[in-house]
Amino acid sequence: MEQRRILVTGGCGFIGSNFIRYMLLKHPRYRIVNLDKLTYAGNLENLSDLETHPNYRFVKGDIADRALVAGLMAEEKFHWVVNFAAESHVDRSIEDPAPFLHTNVLGTQVLLEGARGTGVELFLQVSTDEVYGSLPPPGRFTEESPLRPSSPYAASKAAADLMVAAYWRTYGLPVVITRSSNNYGPYQFPEKLIPLMISNALEDKELPLYGDGLYVRDWIYVEDHCRALDLILHRGKPGETYNIGAENERTNLEVVEIILRLLGKPRSLIRFVQDRPGHDRRYAIDPSKLREELGWHPETDFETGLNRTIKWYVENENWWRRVKSGEYLAYYERMYGDRLRKAEQG
Ligand code: NAD
Ligand code: DAU
Repeated sequence: MEQRRILVTGGCGFIGSNFIRYMLLKHPRYRIVNLDKLTYAGNLENLSDLETHPNYRFVKGDIADRALVAGLMAEEKFHWVVNFAAESHVDRSIEDPAPFLHTNVLGTQVLLEGARGTGVELFLQVSTDEVYGSLPPPGRFTEESPLRPSSPYAASKAAADLMVAAYWRTYGLPVVITRSSNNYGPYQFPEKLIPLMISNALEDKELPLYGDGLYVRDWIYVEDHCRALDLILHRGKPGETYNIGAENERTNLEVVEIILRLLGKPRSLIRFVQDRPGHDRRYAIDPSKLREELGWHPETDFETGLNRTIKWYVENENWWRRVKSGEYLAYYERMYGDRLRKAEQG
């Protein structure tokens, strides 16, 4: 394909940074502009190897900043917009939903408005399976499943999805929505289950499992997600929604037990702590549409992906030790202090 100019938002976060690295390696002629506000979750270190890449530009800013977004759209004349920028952590949305509305809802609308009428050929909204809510077995979410978000985070992502669909129906802006299951891999912020458990285990600290630990998530290795997004950008059909998942359901307890085994750490590190309010019991994604229409399938099985992820955290201890300092320590105390003390008291 001829050269593409791509606006990637939230590229300094976990999935965004993996996506930019994947795209510049696979399509070195494509130009990527990364617009990121650098919140607590955004980290310039995640892309330090690409700083001098001739086809990469970083812009610090908020996707909800109309003037900035309009200026960038006019200046760069993007073919594609890929919107990763979001407040992404459910527990933080329970503490304070306001920043979730600002970025996930208003920010998405500002980007859509900026893209309208500027020749953008595809606006890809990176959404989540959490918009579907919780699901008892054996069902799986299809693209037609109703939206029943539980947390303020999920509600904000569902609202954004509806706005994206409205821009397609009302203004004919070419959009696609992707809904991925839980990602894991390098550069994930250690507030999320897998990097939290790996880094705590490496420090011989307690591993806080919410409730009975039998909540189910459907895990996908981040590179498989990035490959799906690349495929959808090139061959996806405007107006469509695509579920992305690797058919890999696990209980949280099972995930933690595998991590402990791979690290050679004792099971006695596990603590069952007070549950997350409104905790969705189970997510399970049906990726048939992506497989049958675009030929995508995951390439990394769970044990291989976890091994790679653990190796990355072991080799990049400086990265996560820097992240787990400052604001993170206060966050950890707010989130886990009482929970862990209560668990110790039995
Ligand atoms: P993350 O929290 O690691 O990164 C978010 C990035 O967005 C950060 O770099 C942050 O600085 C940036 N950002 C936040 N607010 C911004 C704003 N107003 N303007 C510009 N930049 C801003 O998130 P992630 O886990 O990489 O998730 C990326 C996207 O994928 C999100 O939209 C999320 O909803 C979606 N998603 C994540 C998962 C997952 O398992 N992590 C699964 C499915 C979908
Ligand atoms: O499903 C996709 C979603 O996955 C994304 O949209 C979100 O951005 C992403 O954060 C993730 O949401 P979850 O709430 O599923 O992820 P989290 O890593 O926070 O939790 C995974 C499971 O582990 C969930 O059942 C809660 C549990 N958990 C989590 C933490 C942080 C614990 O038991 N203990 C913990 O300390």
